[in-house]
This record gives sequence, structure tokens and C-alpha cells, in this order.
Amino acid sequence: MCGIVGYIGDKQAPPVLIKGLKRLEYRGYDSSGIAIINDSRIEVFKKQGKVAEMENLVLDADPQSSLGIGHTRWATHGSPNDINSHPHYSNSGRIAIIHNGIIENYASIKEGLLKRGYTFESETDTEVLVNLIEDVLLHTEVSLAEAVRIALNQVVGAYAIAVIEEGNNDQIVVAKKGSPLVIGIGTGEYYIASDATPFIEYTNQAVYLEEEEVALISLKKGLEIRTIANKLIRPYIQELALEIESIEKAGYDHFMLKEVNEQPKSIFDTLRGRLIVDKNNISINALNQYEKKFLNADRIVIVACGTSWHAGLVAEYLIEGLARIPVEVEYASEFRYRNPIITERDIVIAVSQSGETADTLSAIQLAKAKGATIFGICNVVGSSIAREAHIGAYTHAGPEIGVASTKAFTAQVTLFTLIAMSLAEKKGSISKKLYRKLIRELNAIPKKVQQTLNLDAQSKHIASVYKDVSNCLFLGRGINFPVALEGALKLKEISYIHAEGYPAAEMKHGPIALIDADMPTVVVAIKTEHYEKVVSNIQEIKARNGKIIAIVNDGDSVVSKIADHVIEIPEVDERLSPLLTTIPLQLISYHIAVMRGCHVDQPRNLAKSVTVE
Ligand code: F6R
Repeated sequence: MCGIVGYIGDKQAPPVLIKGLKRLEYRGYDSSGIAIINDSRIEVFKKQGKVAEMENLVLDADPQSSLGIGHTRWATHGSPNDINSHPHYSNSGRIAIIHNGIIENYASIKEGLLKRGYTFESETDTEVLVNLIEDVLLHTEVSLAEAVRIALNQVVGAYAIAVIEEGNNDQIVVAKKGSPLVIGIGTGEYYIASDATPFIEYTNQAVYLEEEEVALISLKKGLEIRTIANKLIRPYIQELALEIESIEKAGYDHFMLKEVNEQPKSIFDTLRGRLIVDKNNISINALNQYEKKFLNADRIVIVACGTSWHAGLVAEYLIEGLARIPVEVEYASEFRYRNPIITERDIVIAVSQSGETADTLSAIQLAKAKGATIFGICNVVGSSIAREAHIGAYTHAGPEIGVASTKAFTAQVTLFTLIAMSLAEKKGSISKKLYRKLIRELNAIPKKVQQTLNLDAQSKHIASVYKDVSNCLFLGRGINFPVALEGALKLKEISYIHAEGYPAAEMKHGPIALIDADMPTVVVAIKTEHYEKVVSNIQEIKARNGKIIAIVNDGDSVVSKIADHVIEIPEVDERLSPLLTTIPLQLISYHIAVMRGCHVDQPRNLAKSVTVE
């Protein structure tokens, strides 16, 4: 993971870098640092902890510089202390580097460097890389950019790096493989960053570096891009549509709460232009284009991680149920290492909010090599997975900054609902009546999500009752089983309460042993064909003194009598229900985490974009 930034221009670099790093803190927040060129000399400020800690060092020293690079770290090699923080110097102190990624062959490179007399302060792979570059500089008469290019030819692994050199206050050299890097082009200034959020308030002109590209960024020479094989590349400048307001908190205490409350709009944006209500139609460009492939596919394999994997599980119910195409949902990290059987008649759908998750990216690279058609469902436009896929559709949920995924999940589920309905219609496996009914109901979803959000006070009350528990169980059946998994994941990741999600009927095969008066169970108990059975499960828990928090439909008179707490949500077709049942679970987790004093937007040990295996 990690976030990187850089600046060269006529502004003071330190405040630009620090503001940019704060925007990228979602990528990691174990430590942070900046390196600037002050009076031709490199100065480094770095510190364990959040960017604000390092900012204090910079404010005290008040260094002047119009060129610098910065880094916020999610530790991989070496613990998160000051020494392992980036930037790292070469032995001579002549160059400094920041790095997002992992150098897999760092141990063998380090061994060679140690033999040549290099010493290392930190435990990082990055310090090895900066010394490898220095070694090239010392043994050849080449420029810094050329030395970086030559050094990277010896490197196995992933990197987005930025390098600066003492005495040269007109250049930053950057390179990318496997980790994202985007260059913002302003008037008489350049920015670099892991994504566009650090510079979008200054410029919307951007160049996304491609795999194995090295760029020299210089005010005098402009932007010069080469591949690491030394082929000159013409920069492709894109105009970004991102707006600054969408990446700020807009008066909410936390990004997570803002993003939960944005769901009526983000779902609407996912539907926009695809759900054509007056024509009773659904149109997804990528599906229309690849219609034959989809209709002739042997099966669809969905690969994803975490919350996106839960969206994939919901999709399995939707696509199999409506379009009658077999679906398999795989953890990307497992899929790629078990030599999966994939053929040209398979469609592999990668689901990823960030579009940068390393396991998901590698999974589709493997499936692509085996001939499958790759369909990407990403939120971040221009992300690596979106670019690796043959075809795809964006969720259009807008930037998600809170580490816990919320609006991205409901946007993924919304898009999968559209995909399942569209495939079903193309295959003729759905009746016209049902198709039209679902179109009408989907159209009403943003309003019903808002009604569900309006029940926040109930979630807050429930949170106040259960905020001190140590364990919590989440149950659901059918299409709401993945919602139970997602509810448990939200609670554990932001409040550090141990939580498990189960299909309600599985409870009797083990988890029921955990039930006692201290163990609350959150049950999705809306009116579906499984309703009676879920009611029986609730009775079984009550008989063992367990506490029940139930998500039910408006006017439910059965569960309300036996549960300790109910949240009544609007009625909706069962197939669309995850879009509503998820909301109270997000809110309960949010309030519990706040009441426990947890860092909701940046939970410990986590990062938003997991670009390591
Ligand atoms: C949980 C969460 C993670 C991500 C997972 C995949 O709230 O955010 O579990 O869902 O790391 O990330 P993406 O979707 O970016 O591939």
C-alpha cells in the first residue's frame, strides 16, 4: 500500500506535500515523511505515526523549498518506526527515495551491496533500492533518470517510486510497476501522487504512468517518459472529472459517516444512464458489446477480496437466480495459487473499489493468460484493474476515503443487480412481468435507502447498549447471508469487536455453543421465503438467553415480539433487499466504533488500498 506524493513548481513544497499526504492517509498511516531540496541539499523529516505528527517537525523547522517528495507508510518490511519510515537516503546521502510496493528480490540485491561495502540503517527493501540506484550512479556516467532505469531492470517486484538528487532542484524521477502513480500537470508545476486526490484542487490534467515506465519530471525539460527497456513514450494527458468537494468531509465527523449517508446518491449514480425506466430497459454498454460472450459463457467466475468479495457473493444469488448462468465466487488470493481451471469460455469478473488490490489484479492477469474474458467492476476510474480488464463497468460511487467500504459495496451490489437483470432479459430467463417489477423497484431504491438512513437514531441506541461486548454474531439467509458476513466484517474492522457472519441455518452446527446473555446476535429477518425458519433460529437463540437485534420489515409483528431490538426497514423485493439491510449494520458498527473511541476512518493495521499480496 503506502501513499506517495511529490511536487516541483513555484509553490512552497512542504505544505503541498503534507496536505497531499493527509489525503492519501487512507493508504497507510504507520509513519510518514517528506524529503525536500533546500539550498541544493536534501533534508528529510520523518516520523512514526500519522501525518500530523510529522507535520509538527516540519512546522518547527519551517524549511523552504519548491521541490519535494512525501510518503505515508503501511509497513511491510520492518516495523513502523522512525528509522523504517520513508524517505530513505542512499549511503552517500546524495539521493533520497520514496517507495510504494515490495521489492521481492531485495535480499539478494542487499547481499551484493553489502559485499561492495554498503551499510543499511533500516530493515526496508526501499533502502536497498536507493543504494542500488546509487551504485549505478557511481559506476556509470549516467543521469539520475537513466540510473533509475538501469537499476529497475534488476528489480523483481512492485514499485511506485520517486527519487530526488542533491544539487539538482529541477528534477524528480518517478517509476511505476504494479503500484499506481499519476502525474498532475499544472502551469509551471508538476505533482505526483498515488491517486489524483492530492492535486485535484490545483489541476485536472493528469498522466497515469503505465507498467514499467520511468519519467523524468523537470521544469526546464518537461515530462520525459521511457520504458525500463528504454523506449521513448509520448505522454497521454487525461482530463480528470474528480471534484475537490467529493473528497472532503462536508461537515460529517468522519468520512465513513459521510459515505454511508451518500448511498442514496451513489446508488442513483450507479443506476444513472443504465436503468431506463420509461423504456422498461437496462443498458450496460460493456454487456451489450460482449453480449454473445456472456450468453455463450460456460460460467462466470467472480474474484475479489474483503467487502468486494461479499458483493460477489450477492451477485452469485442474483446472476444464478435470474440469468441462470453458473457463478463461482473466489477469494482472489486463493484463486491465483491453486492452478484454477479456466478456459476461453469463462468470464472472470474482478470486483474492486480501489482497482488496485494486488491479489485481485494478479488473479485476472492469470485468468487472462488462460484465455478468459476479463470484466472489471471498479470504482476508481483508470485504476490498474480497470485497465487490465478487457471490458468493464464503473460503479460511479465517487471517492471512498473511509477505510471501511460502505457506499462502494452498495454500488457494486447495484451494478450486479443491473448486470443480472440485463443478462436475464437477454437470455429470456426472466418474465417480462418480473423484469418490469424489478426495474420499478430498483428505481425506488435510492428513496428507500434514504428512509432506512433516517432510522439512524435506532442504530445509535442499539450501539449504546452493546458497545462493550466482546463478541457478536451476524445471521442471514439466502441473499442476506453475504450481508451478515459484511455486517460482521464492518464491526470487527472498525470497532475491534470479534464478530462472525453465518447463514442462519448453520448456527445449529456450531456457533450456537457461543450463545449466552453476553453475546448479541444481529439477524436479518425480513419477509422472504426463509422468514419462518429465521424466526425459529431467533427462538433458539432466545431460549439460550441470547440477545437479538433484528432487521425486519415495516409492520413486522412476529419478530418484534421476541427480539430485544428491531429496526424496521421498508419492504422491497428480496433480490434487492441487501441494498437496504446493509445500511443499519453499517450504522451500528459506525456508532459502536465511535463510542469505543476507535479511529473509524483509519482503523489500526488496515489500509484502504491493499497493493501487497
Ligand atoms: C472492508 C474493506 C476491505 C476491501 C478489500 C478489497 O471494509 O474495505 O475488505 O473490500 O481490501 O478492496 P478493493 O475493493 O479495493 O479491491
